This record gives sequence, C-alpha cells and structure tokens, in this order.
Amino acid sequence: MDVMDVMGRTLPNRGETVDKPKVVLGVSGGIAAYKACELLRRLTETGHDVRVVPTDSALHFVGSATWSALSGNPVSTEVWDDVHEVPHVRIGQHADLVVVAPATADMLAKAAHGLADDLLTNTLLTARCPVVFAPAMHTEMWEHPATQENVATLRRRGAVVIEPAVGRLTGVDTGKGRLPDPTEIYAVCRRVLARGVTEPDLTGRHVVVSAGGTREPLDPVRFLGNRSSGKQGYALARTAAARGARVTLVAANTGLPDPAGVDVVPVGTAVQLREAVLKAAADADAVVMAAAVADFRPAAYAEGKIKKKDGKDPDPIVLVRNPDILAEISADRARPAQVVVGFAAETDDVLANGREKLRRKGCDLLVVNEVGERRTFGSEENEAVVLGADGSETPVPHGPKEALAEIVWDLVVERLK
Ligand code: CTP
Repeated sequence: MDVMDVMGRTLPNRGETVDKPKVVLGVSGGIAAYKACELLRRLTETGHDVRVVPTDSALHFVGSATWSALSGNPVSTEVWDDVHEVPHVRIGQHADLVVVAPATADMLAKAAHGLADDLLTNTLLTARCPVVFAPAMHTEMWEHPATQENVATLRRRGAVVIEPAVGRLTGVDTGKGRLPDPTEIYAVCRRVLARGVTEPDLTGRHVVVSAGGTREPLDPVRFLGNRSSGKQGYALARTAAARGARVTLVAANTGLPDPAGVDVVPVGTAVQLREAVLKAAADADAVVMAAAVADFRPAAYAEGKIKKKDGKDPDPIVLVRNPDILAEISADRARPAQVVVGFAAETDDVLANGREKLRRKGCDLLVVNEVGERRTFGSEENEAVVLGADGSETPVPHGPKEALAEIVWDLVVERLK
C-alpha cells in the first residue's frame, strides 16, 4: 500500500520490504564487529532489508539489542530459535547477498570446510546468492597457510574475499589484517549486488591510478590547489581491484579511506605525483591519470610564513610549469602494450577540447567530463564521454562514479587483449 505525505506525494513505505534487496550481514567474533554497525547503517539507509546473523562470539563484542535496533529485524545466533520458520534454511535461501564482516580465521575455515554448527554457518551453506567475506584478524593468522588455503578455496568457489587492510590491529600491533573501512565493504557489496560476481578480467595485471588534486606550497601554511575530491580515482582503484588487478593508487590530498586490497602511495605536489606514478608505471599494464595535476607551481617557496606588509601591495606570485605527466607517460611507455588513460575536465566546448587534448597528450583513451561549480567535484556521480585514439567515442550516462570506472576498465581490457 502506498504511503502519502501531507502534500499527497507518495513516500517509500518504511515497513515495506518486498522490493528491497535482502542482505544477510553475518558477524563473527572479532573486535572489528563494532565496525559492522556502520556497514549495517549504510545498507539500511540505502534501502536494503538487512538481517543480521551474528555468531555467539560476536555477541561478546556487540550485543543483540544493537543489531536488532539498527536492522529493524529479529536477531538470533541459533538454529533452535523460531524453529517453525526453519531459519537455518530460509534466511540463506531468500538472501540476495550474504556479507560476513568481520570474517575471523575460524569463520573462513568453517565456511571453506562446510561446517554448520550455528545459524550463520548454516546460512552460508544454504545461500545460493553471492557471498562476500571481509576478513579481519592478526597478520600471523591471515598469513598462515591454513587461512590462505581456506581463502583460495572460497574464492575458487566464487565467493568474494576482500583483502584486509594494513594498519593498526588490536593492541599495539600493526600490519595486514585490519577490517577495511565500512564504506569500502559497502562499495564492494553494492557492486556485487549490481553486477553479481564477475569474471576477474584484470587478474595478473598491474594498474596504476592517480587520484585527488595536487597542492603546490607557497609557504609552510599556504598552497595552490584545486577542488578534486579523488572519488573518481578511488572508484577506478576499487573496481580494478574487484576485477582482479594489483592496483597502485597514487593519492594526492584526498583524505579518503584506503580502498580494500589496494596499495596506496600518498603524495602532495605534482612533482611527487610524477615520481610515484613513473615508479609504479615501470611494470604496469595500464596507467589511469584521474588526478587533477596543477599545471604550474610557485617558482619560490618561502621557508617562513609570508607576512602582509602594511600599506604595500602584495608581491606577485611567480609560477613555473609543472611536468605534464600524462604526456610524458604516453610518449615514453615503460611497456610497448601499456594502455594510458587521461581525464579532461572542461567547462566549454567539451568534446572539441577533448579531441584536441587527446591528440596533444598522446594517450589511448581520454575521459572527458564537464565541470562547473556544482558539477562533478566532490559528488558521487559523473557523466562523461570516453574518446579513443582509434576514433571511438563511448558516451557514459549520468550515474555513479563506479559505473564510469567499470566502462573505463572495459575499454582498457579490450585494448590489453
Ligand atoms: N595531467 C598531467 N600532468 C599535468 C597536468 C595534467 O598528467 N601537469 C593530466 C591529468 O591527470 C589529466 C589530463 O592530464 O589526466 C588532463 O589534464 P588537464 O588539466 O585537463 O589538461 P591540461 O593539459 O592542463 O589542459 P588545459 O589546461 O589546457 O585544459
């Protein structure tokens, strides 16, 4: 039944779950269980009907009341609750996606070997939908051959196992094994719901993506910069990783969480970005320059803060040219078959400027999009035309930055063959 607001407009019926994608959020017993609350919120706020299935150990970290309140659904760990509804079969059968976050070493082992001693492991055996695991554990446990073999088994069977992030672990330890940021796990879930588990067509490939906007310092507190958020570059890195590539993301001043399973190299200036991109490009199959690189930098850097002088006009800022990284990589490819992709943000004569820029830069593909005060910068969506050096023109309709990223990789994969 439709629900109307006071103006007579139809509102989404919050109680209605018929058309909502059904997601099972499995939570196993690790300290990162608290981060799954954020994932749960994102899923419910974006129109997913989420049933949380924690393990008994997960409830030591976050209790049933939290899962139930945040999901709006009942929570149980046992196959013996509500037996008449046969939950150990029904929950898995009716799911569109099962995501286990965090997935402990024990949970991966049980899933790989088909054990079924609680509601979550039963659900994993009955689910016929895509399954995503987001592991979190200490580095030693992740690297242990037993865990690695279990992960390989699960991947071979079609499960998506996200690479853990590198960073601070429980206690004083740091290393690989952190649960990726909930926004990243959410992005993986959204991709799998939209596209299913796809052929990893970039497996064995190394791709380099630059993202963000460079900052050219004037003095210790000021810089010349631009408004690039880095979101398009991150979407490119995330989707390339999901398609099986080894990804190096050269990130200029983004402040965004690291995409799961991606090597992130933080940089500040255009010169630093050039150095990092050239180094990573040496063995890369593709380089995508999504970063907004400053064309000029201040000729001089003031060691102390530049002060205003009373009654005097400020000194002009003298600029010098930065290297054109895209043109340099295109002209001097580290590998003959390397595919090079550029981006062009234009405000006027978008296509004509794009064609001219493609020729001038010498890259294989140029993603041209129109920018302005409220367009593209910082937004979650994009709209573009991808121009090919072979004369091709691929329009990309308005949509999420991930969708544009997928099309870019489709075109790169075609050229890598
Ligand atoms: N780029 C680069 N090095 C630079 C400037 C830009 O590698 N010094 C790359 C960007 O990453 C992007 C592409 O070139 O992929 C297009 O950048 P843009 O600034 O639009 O091109 P410009 O050559 O600066 O053209 P114009 O200023 O005339 O628009």
